[in-house]
Amino acid sequence: MSNILIVGATRGIGLELTKQYSDDGNSVIACARDKANASLLDELASGSENISIEQLDIADPSSIDAAATNIGDSVIDTVIIVAGDVGGDPMEQQSLDNIDIDQWHKTLDTNTIGPLLVAKAFKSNLVASGNGNLMILSSQLGASTWPMGGMYIYSTTKAAVGKVGKILSLDWAEDPITVSIMHPGWVQTDMGGPGAEITAEESASGIRNVISGLTKEDSGNFYKWNGDIHPW
Ligand SMILES: NC(=O)c1ccc[n+]([C@@H]2O[C@H](COP(=O)([O-])OP(=O)(O)OC[C@H]3O[C@@H](n4cnc5c(N)ncnc54)[C@H](OP(=O)(O)O)[C@@H]3O)[C@@H](O)[C@H]2O)c1
Repeated sequence: MSNILIVGATRGIGLELTKQYSDDGNSVIACARDKANASLLDELASGSENISIEQLDIADPSSIDAAATNIGDSVIDTVIIVAGDVGGDPMEQQSLDNIDIDQWHKTLDTNTIGPLLVAKAFKSNLVASGNGNLMILSSQLGASTWPMGGMYIYSTTKAAVGKVGKILSLDWAEDPITVSIMHPGWVQTDMGGPGAEITAEESASGIRNVISGLTKEDSGNFYKWNGDIHPW
């Protein structure tokens, strides 16, 4: 059994990952931006001895540090950074004619800078595992192959976090940590909407399957939820 840390576990894919890992007997530290506003996670945790809830706002460096201090030197085998922000309304905040610059800065904190700070904060816990995994959820919109325009805020902050993961894989080449980037599919969550292609259950089980097959040689790769390599 493994120790798993999930950042952004209150809804959607993060909640489903928490459910699946804990149901299989793993120990899950499920991080919530706001513990007072995490009713679905509370409900899940109340039925499982394998879930503990930690406060962590990925857009707030002091919150990341506080969570790392609380967790201390516990061994963590896998950190999955799920937390993400779509960056506001596609037409009113993210189109060429309407760019919300304040929102862009905020989304950069959540989607790009926060994941790097989480990686730093929990590196020693992953090293202690001897075979750690750090996975960051990005998006197909962050790839140069995405064919549609618009969505400047979301697409650029996700493209940048892909580069964060790639650089981490190089900086940690000598450490026992595999770093990977994941496009989780177009998923039926609050973010993906009800018309999306796959369920959170399918996405989370695909992500878990990818993680279970990773070796150090895979570090720096960008995956799709079904295990295919995603083009950058
Ligand atoms: N759904 C899709 O189709 C799709 C496609 C491609 C990529 N993705 C990526 O997959 C990830 C999960 O998506 P989802 O569909 O599950 O999204 P979701 O249903 O909107 O859930 C987003 C999660 O991120 C958390 N979060 C947001 N800002 C946070 C912060 N500052 N600190 C901590 N947690 C924060 C939310 O917590 P609160 O409850 O506190 O808001 C929530 O748990 C995201 O990174 C998203 O960009 C999703």
